[in-house]
Amino acid sequence: MKKKILDLIKKKNKQKIISLTAYSKNVASILDNHCDIILVGDSLGSVLYNYKSTREVTLNTMIEHSKSVRMGVKKSLMVVDMPYNTYRTPKEALKNAKQIMKKTKCDGVKLEGGKKIYKTINTLVKNKIPVMGHLGLLPQSDKTFKFKGKKKLERDNILRDSQLLEKAGVFSIVLECIETSLAKLVSQNIKVPTIGIGASKYCDGQILVFDDLIGLNPMSYKFVKKYANIRKDISKAVSNYSKEVRRIKFPNKKNSF
Ligand code: KIV
Repeated sequence: MKKKILDLIKKKNKQKIISLTAYSKNVASILDNHCDIILVGDSLGSVLYNYKSTREVTLNTMIEHSKSVRMGVKKSLMVVDMPYNTYRTPKEALKNAKQIMKKTKCDGVKLEGGKKIYKTINTLVKNKIPVMGHLGLLPQSDKTFKFKGKKKLERDNILRDSQLLEKAGVFSIVLECIETSLAKLVSQNIKVPTIGIGASKYCDGQILVFDDLIGLNPMSYKFVKKYANIRKDISKAVSNYSKEVRRIKFPNKKNSF
C-alpha cells in the first residue's frame, strides 16, 4: 500500500522512520520494500557526477533521475531535492516545484535552509506542495562542512529555524551533522518528525546516502556505517567474468542461441 504523509507524521515518538537516497530505478525498487521515504538527493552531484559541490546540479538532472526512481517506487514516499538556485524567491520556487511535482510524480520536495526561506516554504505549502525542510549542515551553501551546534548562536538559530519551518508547514525536517543534544532538543520541540544524518539516535528517523551504506563509495565518514562491502563483491564478480571470458567458459551453450 502506498504510504501517506499523514501516516509518516503519526510515526513520531512511536516508530523510527527509515529513509535512504536513490538515483535510479533498480536501486529504488529494492529500497522501496524497506523505506518510508526515498529521497532523490542532490548529493547525486558528488556521488555520480564528481561535481565539487551540489551547487552544480541542475533542475533537469534532478528531474531525469527522479523519473527513473519513480519507476521503482511503489510504496514509499518519494521526495526530490530542489537544486541550488531554483528557489531564490517564492515565485521561482513555486514554478520549479510545480515542474518537479508534475514531471516526476513525487510526493514532495526538499529545500535547504531556515528563516531565509520561510516565506518560500509557506508559499509551496499553501499551493499544496508537500515540503521537507533541511537544517544543520546545508551542502548547497556551507563552506566548512563541519558539524553544527557547538556555538550557542548556532544552536539557537537551528532550534528557532526548526520551529519556523514547522510553522511554515513542512511535513518533516532533515537534520544534517548536528551535535547530539541539539538534535534531541529540536526533535523534542517540534511536532513533525526529524530525519537525521550525522545527527544522533534522538532523531525520529534516519537517512543515509545509499552508496555510502553499501560501501560503493570508497570514502568513509564518521556518521556512516557501511552495511556491505559492495565494491569487493562487484570486483569479485567482474574478475570471475573476465577469467571465464578468457578461458572461453562464458558464454556457454546455455547462454547461446
Ligand atoms: O542530497 C542528499 O542526499 C541529502 C541527504 C544527505 C539528506 O540531502
